[in-house]
Order: sequence, then structure tokens, then C-alpha cells
Amino acid sequence: MQNFTFQNSTKVIFGRDKEKTVGTEVKEYSDHVLLHYGGGSIKKYGVYDDVIDSLEEAGVEVTELGGVQPNPRLSLVEEGIEICREKDIDFILAVGGGSVIDSAKSIAAGVPYEGDVWDFFAGEAEIETALPVGTVLTIPAAGSETSPAAVVTNEEEDLKWDIGSNKLRPQFSILNPEITYTLPDYQTACGAADMMAHIMERYFTKTEDVELTDKLCAGTLRTIINNTPCALKEPKNYDARAEIMWAGTIAHNDLLGTGREEDWASHAIEHELSALYDVAHGAGLAVIFPAWMEYVHQEHVERFAQFAVDVWNVDPDFYNVEQTAKKGIEKTREFFSSIGLPVSLEELGVPTNKLEEMADKCTSGGPVGNFKSLDKEDVFRIYKLSQ
Ligand code: NZQ
Ligand code: ZN
Repeated sequence: MQNFTFQNSTKVIFGRDKEKTVGTEVKEYSDHVLLHYGGGSIKKYGVYDDVIDSLEEAGVEVTELGGVQPNPRLSLVEEGIEICREKDIDFILAVGGGSVIDSAKSIAAGVPYEGDVWDFFAGEAEIETALPVGTVLTIPAAGSETSPAAVVTNEEEDLKWDIGSNKLRPQFSILNPEITYTLPDYQTACGAADMMAHIMERYFTKTEDVELTDKLCAGTLRTIINNTPCALKEPKNYDARAEIMWAGTIAHNDLLGTGREEDWASHAIEHELSALYDVAHGAGLAVIFPAWMEYVHQEHVERFAQFAVDVWNVDPDFYNVEQTAKKGIEKTREFFSSIGLPVSLEELGVPTNKLEEMADKCTSGGPVGNFKSLDKEDVFRIYKLSQ
């Protein structure tokens, strides 16, 4: 096990009706918030009214900025920064999923910074300070509710880049599984794929002697695998939704990566897809992750075999190590397919005429991934494998 520092300071408030306490939480930080949200689901399903009532009751003034699109756009982040500066707003409340939360974090980083907020994404400036952010999560998927990261699309340049800083971790996140009852099946499935990918990015490591985190990873993966079909069948099954929602946070709150080297190539490879074709991040991962697994598994075939046994119950007595490893990959792909996700670029509806360009952009900052360091040619081959 490697040395590590683990600190996740986000207060998680979990359970039925908890969004109705948001006013009290916000009031600890601010009297005037920017309420940031997406394309309207929160208004359609009533979360908006509950949040507004709670803020009003606590005496918090609200300025609204809705309209965050999936794969959040830089232009709206810039608009949010301007609004906060003009109105002296000192807290951002994100009500939505990863896209809304990431947009909120980016606004929070941009307000006190004199330069262009994209400097942070381009690696040209460090985040020294940021406004505090709170969240009411409406879709379990990205894990942004406790993560230090934000991913934003610069629509003028077709770039989807991320920033990470402990200063961006939300102060609090409210998770009510009932709010996720209204998710379309496709979004539920995309969320499951994304949280599974967050765990697998950490599971596939060459660091030895990480038994505890291996078991925590496998347990969290199994929970998602057990409960997602149930939530799809019965969207209002509280227990299934609750297991999935908590798993989504655990998957990405950094605990599962402690003491080990993490990979993150599949995310980098996927981000090129969502930057160029605006596909759902989880759907892109369902296509890319199994292809990545196939491409790299021989780097440490025993780890892939362990994954097959611990996560998918593959019986190692029936197969040799290579076959066991391959079974695990096959079962991962089959699972994604069984919950209605695409598992090829064709099924994702993405053309294959820009694979080289994407591979080039993906590796423009150098090779990606740690389990196997991947250069442009490797990434290109993974795109080809996922056709
Ligand atoms: O915009 P609205 O109308 O709210 O609809 C959203 C959106 O269309 C809908 N939705 C959300 N909650 C709902 C709902 N519909 C009905 N009922 C509800 N309760 O779902 C759609 C997708 O929302 P989005 O926020 O885009 O989903 P997700 O949470 O998957 O976020 C994806 C973004 O997060 C980034 C991704 O790259 C992508 O841009 N990620 C962020 C990370 C982080 N900050 O740590 C890590 C991840 O790896 C990921 O890269
Ligand atoms: Zn992700």
C-alpha cells in the first residue's frame, strides 16, 4: 500500500425530504445565493419549489441561473461569474446532477479570479480560493457532490477539460433518493456506468497489497450491479434508489483510491467523445471501458481475473487465468448492454471518421493512464476496438 492523505470534508445529508432543510444549511454561509440548475427537470418534478420555499423560510435571497446543459458549457459559467460579481453573491447552490454541480464549481472558482476562468482548465493558473458551493443532487452518477473536480466543455474549441482542487469540494450535499424516482431509464443506466467506471479506474492498479480497498471496490460495484436492474424495473423502489445514490458518492469520494495508483485513461478517452458528439458521459464509458479492458488486461492478467471472481462470481476452477480475466470483461460489457446502454460506437451513434483526431487530442498533454501508459496509437486502437 502506498502512503496517502485522505480528507473529504463535504457534509452529506442523506434521506427522504432532506432537500427541505437546504435553507438552514445555506444560511450558515450566506444571505444571498446563486441558485444554479439545468434544463427544467427540477421545476417539472417539484424539487425547485421545495428548495425555494426552504430558502425563503431561512431568509436567504435568491438569484437564479438555470439552463445548464449536460456536458456543461463554458459560456454559461462565464455568465454565472458575471452575475455573482455584479450582485455580490457569495455562495452557489447547485440543484441538479454532475453538469450543474461542475458548472457551479467553475463559477465558484472564477468569481474571485481576475483572469479568464478557462486558465484553470488549461493548466495556466492554480485555484487559490473559491466561493463555497452546496448541492442538492438529483441524479447519482458523476460523484461531483463530494469530489474536488469539475469538467466543462469549451464549446468554441470542442474541448472538454477538467479542474481539481480541494477548494471546490462542496460544503454540503443533500441526497434524497426519492428525487431520483423521475430519472429516465437511460439516465439511471448512464449513472450506473459512470459510478462503476469511477470504481474501476481505481480498481485496475498495479499497486500490490491493497486488499481493503479491493474489497470495498468490489462490494460497491456489486451493490450497483444488484440494484440498478431493480431501479429500472421499479423506478420508485426507495431502497434500490438509496443504495445506488450512496454508492455513487462512495465511488468517487476518494476513499476507494486510497493507498493505490489510479488509472483514469478511460475517462480521458471518453471525454473526447462527449466533447465532440455531446453524448452522455456514462454511455460513452459503457462503450470505452470494456474496450480499454480488452486492450490492457494482459498488463496484469491476475488482477483482471480477481476482478472477474470478486465482482462477477466467475468460478476460477472452471477456467485458466486468461479465460477468467476475459469472462470478467465479457460480463461487464453484457451488464452495460442489459441495462440498455450502447456498447459500441455504432450503438452510441458516433461516426468513426475522427478517431485519429480524437486520439491526438486525448494525448496532446502526453500519454494517458497508469495501469498501462497509453500513447496516441494505443488510444486510437482502443477507439477502433470499440467500433
Ligand atoms: O437538465 P435537467 O432538465 O435537470 O435534466 C437532466 C439532464 O438532462 C436529467 N436529470 C437530472 N436529474 C433528474 C433528471 N431528469 C429527471 N429527474 C431527475 N431527478 O439528467 C440529465 C443528465 O444530467 P447531468 O447532470 O448531465 O448528468 P451527470 O450527473 O451524469 O453529469 C455528467 C457530467 O459530469 C461530468 C461528466 O463529464 C458530465 O459532464 N463528470 C464530473 C465528474 C466530477 N465533477 O467529479 C466526474 C465524472 O467522471 C464526470 O466526468
Ligand atoms: Zn465519470
